[in-house]
Amino acid sequence: MKKNIYSSSIETARALILHIVNLVLNEPDRMFDIAFSGGSTPALMFDLWANEYKAVTPWDRIRVWWVDERCVRPEKPDSNYGMMRMLLLDVVSIPEANIFRIMGENKPKEEAARYSALVKEHVQSQGNFPVFDIVLLGAGNDGHTSSIFPGQEQLLISPEIYEATYNPNTGQNRIALTGQPIINAAQVIFFIMGKDKADVVSEICQSGDTCPAAYIAHHAGEVLFFLDQAAASKLQ
Ligand code: 6PG
Repeated sequence: MKKNIYSSSIETARALILHIVNLVLNEPDRMFDIAFSGGSTPALMFDLWANEYKAVTPWDRIRVWWVDERCVRPEKPDSNYGMMRMLLLDVVSIPEANIFRIMGENKPKEEAARYSALVKEHVQSQGNFPVFDIVLLGAGNDGHTSSIFPGQEQLLISPEIYEATYNPNTGQNRIALTGQPIINAAQVIFFIMGKDKADVVSEICQSGDTCPAAYIAHHAGEVLFFLDQAAASKLQ
């Protein structure tokens, strides 16, 4: 686990954007499959990316996937797709064919199966699971990641690529990338910011498999953390 810690949220976001852009630029002959999480943390990154780095990004070689989605229509304020579309995808020159939305408005189980098949069709596999180039994760204060919440640990070993699940705090239906395809990724990146995440960052980095995010961090191959000082403040 490589921890990259920055003085501010904007510098953390900037470093992450540059990491992703350089990864794509360094291999100019291929497509990159990147799965993005939602929630509030990525919003700052999407906004900065659109304002300062859109011209240097080879959008034609990036396929955008989602780690998870809330089962709501895309125009709803808590749609992960809707947020990324508004802040980034609508203002950069990415081909529409490179954007693979989880259709939150569909029946959850059917959409999980549809999206799993879509990923299987487009993303190279190793064994039974796709190999995303990057799976970009956040972490909730309760230690959830993707939409795999404490108590839903069966999703960490599911044979399915995506499953229908729910947020136990709100009852909201979700579609989630499960544990094994996350672990299978070439790079798993945790992008976590803010002092209210200091405890969960400490748990992920300094405890056992005590929560879904920690399990992923301990079992994935290449795991990178992009943290601001506030989120990293309880690391030894
Ligand atoms: C989601 C995310 C989820 C998120 C964490 C952290 O759909 O909510 O994919 O896993 O990464 O909940 O969310 P914040 O960035 O809002 O703290």
